[in-house]
Amino acid sequence: MKLQYQLNAAFTALLLVILAVTGFFIHSLIMDLLVQNEQRQLEQQGEILVNVLNEQYGTGQNKQFSEFLEEQNLQLILYDRAQNAVLFSTMSNQVVKGFIRNNNILDTSGKLWEYGKDKFVTSRILFYPEHTGVELILLTPLNDLRAVQQSFVARLILVFIIGAIAAVILSYFLTNKLVTPLTRLKWQLKKIEKRQFDQIEPIRATGEIKEVAQSVYDMANELQRYIQSQQVFFQNASHELKTPLMTIQGYAEGIKEKVFDAQETDKGLEVIVTEVNRLKTIINEMILLAKLDSEQTAYQPMKLDAAALMKQVTDRALPLINEKNIELKVDVEDQLQLDVDEEKFLRALLNITFNGIRHAHTMVQIHAYKDQQTKQIIIEDDGPGISEAFIPHIFHRFVKGKNGETGLGLAISRAIIEQSNGTIAIGKSELGGAKFTITLRG
Ligand SMILES: Nc1ncnc2c1ncn2[C@@H]1O[C@H](COP(=O)(O)OP(=O)(O)OP(=O)(O)O)[C@@H](O)[C@H]1O
Ligand SMILES: [Mg+2]
Repeated sequence: MKLQYQLNAAFTALLLVILAVTGFFIHSLIMDLLVQNEQRQLEQQGEILVNVLNEQYGTGQNKQFSEFLEEQNLQLILYDRAQNAVLFSTMSNQVVKGFIRNNNILDTSGKLWEYGKDKFVTSRILFYPEHTGVELILLTPLNDLRAVQQSFVARLILVFIIGAIAAVILSYFLTNKLVTPLTRLKWQLKKIEKRQFDQIEPIRATGEIKEVAQSVYDMANELQRYIQSQQVFFQNASHELKTPLMTIQGYAEGIKEKVFDAQETDKGLEVIVTEVNRLKTIINEMILLAKLDSEQTAYQPMKLDAAALMKQVTDRALPLINEKNIELKVDVEDQLQLDVDEEKFLRALLNITFNGIRHAHTMVQIHAYKDQQTKQIIIEDDGPGISEAFIPHIFHRFVKGKNGETGLGLAISRAIIEQSNGTIAIGKSELGGAKFTITLRG
């Protein structure tokens, strides 16, 4: 069942329950009010009648007195308490006897009298002077009041029906307004499912639906970026693997066909060995990256002295430093401890440091220190730096610059740093070149 119908059905059911309960209470309340009102009116009428009768005829029950009562077009009984006798009535004898039989006429507190199946609202007023015990009893059948009650209830039901129809129509429009953005969002999700990212359109919504829609767009963007990066990765990976393979194939076929002389054959074999080694390195790095992506357990952090770790970096970098004639300055805060996997973190630091040395003009600086909640390692150089446009892609696999090698180093470094509960950011160094900032939490 569609959400809109569910909401409307729930609303209509709620409305019907409320109307039924309200109707029931009003129905019973109306009868009470009508009885009270009728009693008040009878009392007023009775008092006027008694006053007039007292003034004009005294208490004597003569013929004119009875005629006057007859003229009033009321249901009444003139009753003498002292003698317990009915003196006069506008109703038939049989009915009056029935009343006296069914109801305790001496009990003046009873407001409703019964006769047969009918009930009557009564009002009793004593003649003046009170000791004569003569009283006027006025009666109105409850059925008369029921007719009033029913006509009132009929109108009430009509008002309820019109109100309910108006409320249901209004609820239909409101739920439609609520559900339409959801339906539109569903269409956008269908486009994401079919990977039609460029056809996704923003929807108009408010509140939580707007937030959900925003999350859906973010998710679509992330998914699109991921799919694209996977495609780029496969293109780059196949290209990187194909180039050395073609070189190897060229030399191997030449040697087999004996088109090279002895010297060229030696050179060919040398190139084949170099290219095979390069392929082995690329494949090993790809395997490492895949492991870093999937096997969390492969990472084994332990408490390490930062100064000792940096010493290993300088030792390994020494041959390249000498070759390039670069100065490497290392400044590590005393007692600084890092909670990382030694082998892997060393690899990340070496990648970044080697990049720096390869691109620096004269020097590379490493600075490690504790900063409130975090530990920072900064590696910077005075080389040409990295252009703004290149920065967003630099951590992608097989992305490399002009003097780059395989383009996997920074992708591996970032994966390792993220596993170490850290982040890596690129900026511009005051030395003039690139500045890599590693931030480790805890
Ligand atoms: N300190 C730096 N200064 C200028 N450019 C840099 C620096 N570090 C990295 N780069 C650029 O970023 C690219 C990617 O670096 P990355 O370490 O990922 O790959 P690589 O060094 O080319 O190959 P390898 O996989 O062997 O490390 C490099 O090719 C280079 O163009
Ligand atoms: Mg590198």
